[in-house]
Formats: sequence, C-alpha cells, structure tokens
Amino acid sequence: MEAKSAFLQIFSFIVGLSATHAVTYTPDWKSLDSRPLPAWYDESKIGIFLHWGLFSVPAYRSAWFVYFYNHKYPDYVQFVHDNYGPDFTFADFGPRFHASFYNPDGWADIFEASGAKYVVLVTKHHEGFTMWPSNYSWNWNAGDVGPKRDLVAELATAVKKKKDMHFGVYHSLFEFFNPLYIADKKNNYRTQEFVRRKTMPELYELVNNYKPDVVWSDGDWEAEDTYWNSTEFIAWLYNESPVKDTVVTNDRWGNNTRCRHGGFWNCNDRFNPGKLFTPKWENCMTVDKRAWTHRRDVTAEDCRSVNELITVMAETVSCGGNLLMNVGPTADGRIIPIFEQRLRQFGAWMKVNGEAIYKSKPWHTQSDTFDKSVWYTSKKDANGTSVYAIILTWPEYDVQTLGAPITGPNTVIKMLGYDKPFKFYAGLNNTTEIVFPNIPVPLMPSYDAWVLKMTNLENQHVPNHHKPDKDVFVKPIDMVDFL
Ligand SMILES: *[C@@H]1O[C@H](CO)[C@@H](O)[C@H](O)[C@H]1NC(C)=O
Ligand SMILES: *[C@@H]1O[C@H](CO)[C@@H](O)[C@H](O)[C@H]1NC(C)=O
Ligand SMILES: *[C@@H]1O[C@H](CO)[C@@H](O)[C@H](O)[C@H]1NC(C)=O
Ligand SMILES: *[C@@H]1O[C@H](CO)[C@@H](O)[C@H](O)[C@H]1NC(C)=O
Ligand SMILES: *[C@@H]1O[C@H](CO)[C@@H](O)[C@H](O)[C@H]1NC(C)=O
Ligand SMILES: *[C@@H]1O[C@H](CO)[C@@H](O)[C@H](O)[C@H]1NC(C)=O
Repeated sequence: MEAKSAFLQIFSFIVGLSATHAVTYTPDWKSLDSRPLPAWYDESKIGIFLHWGLFSVPAYRSAWFVYFYNHKYPDYVQFVHDNYGPDFTFADFGPRFHASFYNPDGWADIFEASGAKYVVLVTKHHEGFTMWPSNYSWNWNAGDVGPKRDLVAELATAVKKKKDMHFGVYHSLFEFFNPLYIADKKNNYRTQEFVRRKTMPELYELVNNYKPDVVWSDGDWEAEDTYWNSTEFIAWLYNESPVKDTVVTNDRWGNNTRCRHGGFWNCNDRFNPGKLFTPKWENCMTVDKRAWTHRRDVTAEDCRSVNELITVMAETVSCGGNLLMNVGPTADGRIIPIFEQRLRQFGAWMKVNGEAIYKSKPWHTQSDTFDKSVWYTSKKDANGTSVYAIILTWPEYDVQTLGAPITGPNTVIKMLGYDKPFKFYAGLNNTTEIVFPNIPVPLMPSYDAWVLKMTNLENQHVPNHHKPDKDVFVKPIDMVDFL
C-alpha cells in the first residue's frame, strides 16, 4: 500500500469518526444555543407563512375574534348568530372546514414563484385542531373532521418536490380550551399533564412524520420553558431526530425565552429593529396589514403593495434578518388572487435582483448615511466584496446621492438586470452622485425598486464592529397585534 493512500485512509477514518461522534447537545440553553445554525436558513432570506385552520371558516377579522366569541366581541357574536344560527359552538367550525379546492402542488408553485425558499404551515393553532391526523388529538384533527385529509403531509410533499425549498411547521404549545391545559394552569404549572399527554407527543409525531426543517414554536407566553419541557425536546431535535442536521428552531419556547434563546429569534411579531441585530433573527409579518388569517372583509388597500413588501424585505435583510411573509388561505383551500398576485410580483422582482438578497451578508452600513431610504447588503467572492444598494424610489432628477460608499479609480456601479455601468461623480460632503440613465422601457429591469451593484469600493471591507445583541428580552405579545 502506498504511504499516501494509507495516510488518506487514516485521515478519512478520523473524519468519519468525528462525523459520527458529532456534538451532543444537553437540554439546557447554553448547550442548545451553541449549535451552529444550519447554513440554508440564513442563505434563504425569504419564507412564506400560512395561517390556516378553523378560524379560516368564519374568516371574521382575525383568529382572536374567533376564539373569544363568547365574551369579548359582541359584533362577532352577532356575526356567528346571523351566519350559523343561535346554538352554534366553536367545535361546529370543524365539519365546515372542507379544504375542497386545496391543491398543494398549486400552492407550492406560487410559493416557488414568490422567490421564497421555505414555507411554514400552521399545523396547530391555539384552538388545538391539528391539520394532520394526530393520534393525540382524537376527533379534533383534519383527518377525522372536515377535510378528512392529511393537510400537513400533502404540503410537505409538494414543497419538498421543489428544488431548493424547505418545509417547516408552526405549532402552538398551548391550547386555550384544552381541559388538561386549564388544569395545569390552575395548579400554577406545577403539574405537566398537558405537556406530557399532548404537547410533547404531538411535537415528536410532527417531526417524525413530516421531517420539517423549521420547527416554529408559538403559544409560549403563559408559562416558562421548564413547564413546556422545551429544552428536552430541542435536545432530541438536535441530537437524534430525523432532521437533526438541517432543522432550525425559533425562540418561542417559554415566557422567558423570546429574544433570548433558540436557533433564530423572532422576538415579537413584525420585529424589525432597523439596525444591525444578531443573532440570526426573522421578521414574521403579513401581506394583509390587518390580519394573520384570511378574512372576508379584506380589501386591496389592506394588502401591502409590492413596493411595501420589498421595503420591509430590504430593511430586514440588510439588518441580518429573514422575512417570513404571511398569507392566510381560505377554508376551502385557496390562496386568494390578491395574495397570489403580490407574491408573484415580489418573486418577479427577486428573479432580477435576488443576487443582492440570497446568500448576502449585512454590510458595515445598513441604511445609507445620506439617504436613509437606501439599504445595503454585501457579498464576498474571489474578486472582493460587492456592495448592493437597494433603491426603493427612483431618484428625483435621475441622480441618486449616497453617503456610505467611498468610490475609487476601479469602482464600477451597475444596476442589476441592466448591462451598462452607470456614471458617477463626487458630491458635496463626501457623497457620491450616481446618474441613472434614460433606460428604454423594454429594457427596464424592475419597476418597484432597483439594486445598484458596486464593486471595488475603497471601503468595501471596513470591518463590522457590531457586538451580538445579548439579552434584549421583549415581553411577549401585544394581543392587539393579532388583528
Ligand atoms: C397513529 O398510530 C398508528 C398506529 O400506531 C400509526 O399507524 C399512525 O401512523 C399514527 N399516526 C400518526 C399521524 O403518526
Ligand atoms: C420533562 O423532562 C424531564 C427530564 O428529561 C422528564 O423527566 C420529564 O418526564 C419530562 N416531562 C414531560 C411532561 O415531558
Ligand atoms: C411565566 O410563566 C410562569 C409559569 O411557568 C408564571 O408564573 C409567570 O408569571 C410567567 N411570567 C410572565 C412574565 O408572564
Ligand atoms: C472576477 O472578475 C473576473 C473579471 O472581471 C470575472 O471574469 C470573474 O467572473 C469574477 N469572479 C467572480 C467570482 O465573480
Ligand atoms: C454638507 O454638510 C453641511 C454641514 O453638515 C450641511 O449644512 C450641508 O447641507 C451638507 N450638504 C449636502 C449637500 O448634504
Ligand atoms: C470627507 O472625507 C475626508 C476623508 O475621510 C474627511 O477628512 C473629511 O472630513 C470629510 N468631509 C466631510 C465634509 O465630511
């Protein structure tokens, strides 16, 4: 045997050993937080969030109205009375949830066209109805009641068929109306019957069956992580589960964990700090500005325009976040046309400008020092660091002034999707004035926002002195946010 190949064999034996004896995480946050986040998540930047469930049946303003129809909202009580009759109970929404037009492959086509790289489906919301035929939710699941289908399995299959797309599950730890939960709560969470018989078996079942790459936890805010046994579950997820190498988790695992612990941080809904923020975070927000769930009274006006979606995305990605855009499907399983159109328009923009977004890193400057409406990303390759400026409005007089980039003799500035480099010159106070040419309409790369790619800047490499944000704990939830 040649010495070289013997060496190689020993080397690969050692590599093999270290691969099989990977780090074992212990069920405490110090250990779990030390796990490197699987790279696909940060690279993806854009995900789709789907709030779908029994609240989609009345589709009245928000899930919150649906849950509290007995006492809090008299207008909703009237609505239920008028539409479903006087003796209607919450459970009666089950058989009215049909999903008859549900076409998971059609959904996956829309999500792929939107430029999203992952999809997070609500598999169980706070009412406890599981969207899969769970063995721990007897007669209160989509297999036994309503659609009589495994809605989770069908979407998991459709999304996983797409190249470069990941499937994820949203799961609510608590359930408003579950007697086991109510009993534990009465005992000040000294008993864990609900966690032992419902939450945990259900989470293991979800992961083992559907192998999600995101476990997006919610409904955490009434009790601590120790009640939920969150760290035990996550240790299993990272050490032994079928998705241990690819799965990512969020930070909603107890009323003491938001913006403190977990794979990536959501903090509160629509979190968008406007400055560089670490560790990895995600801005979960809604296309319909007023609700997470489908509602019958949604108007075009209520839905964010493509420019608004790109704006939130630019703010988010340049500050180190991912964007999770929510659309609420209807009870009969449709993504309504206005959502589909917005997602497809957003995706058309991403097709031209995705180079600035996917796999990008925050630059040393987030919003421009001169023009705050311009947001930066960056990307390193063998030739240096390219800096991308996302321009949300076409500049007045066709000249864009920027304060952060320092140009040099070799600097090139181009618009993504357009061939010819742009002219630029030095402006006052060390700014750069970039001249937007008269681009013929058929050659215009985008209409809603534009990206300037700048190479060979003098300050492309300025180091980033940002220190990780530690313990910026936020109090969970402003309930009104559920509107
Ligand atoms: C429920 O249990 C049965 C019997 O063990 C099993 O065949 C089925 O796959 C389980 N369902 C789920 C959703 O795991
Ligand atoms: C919580 O985890 C502890 C330690 O692993 C275990 O002893 C206990 O049974 C778990 N409780 C529940 C409700 O899962
Ligand atoms: C967090 O949950 C615990 C029960 O586990 C409860 O006693 C405490 O009041 C909660 N804290 C907050 C801030 O809600
Ligand atoms: C580096 O620049 C050269 C010359 O402009 C180009 O051909 C090459 O594709 C660039 N490399 C990368 C990784 O972009
Ligand atoms: C340049 O800076 C000065 C002093 O801060 C300010 O008064 C002036 O408006 C600036 N000019 C431009 C074009 O920004
Ligand atoms: C322009 O940049 C130079 C070099 O960094 C600096 O010395 C000077 O103060 C700057 N001028 C203004 C007006 O900011």
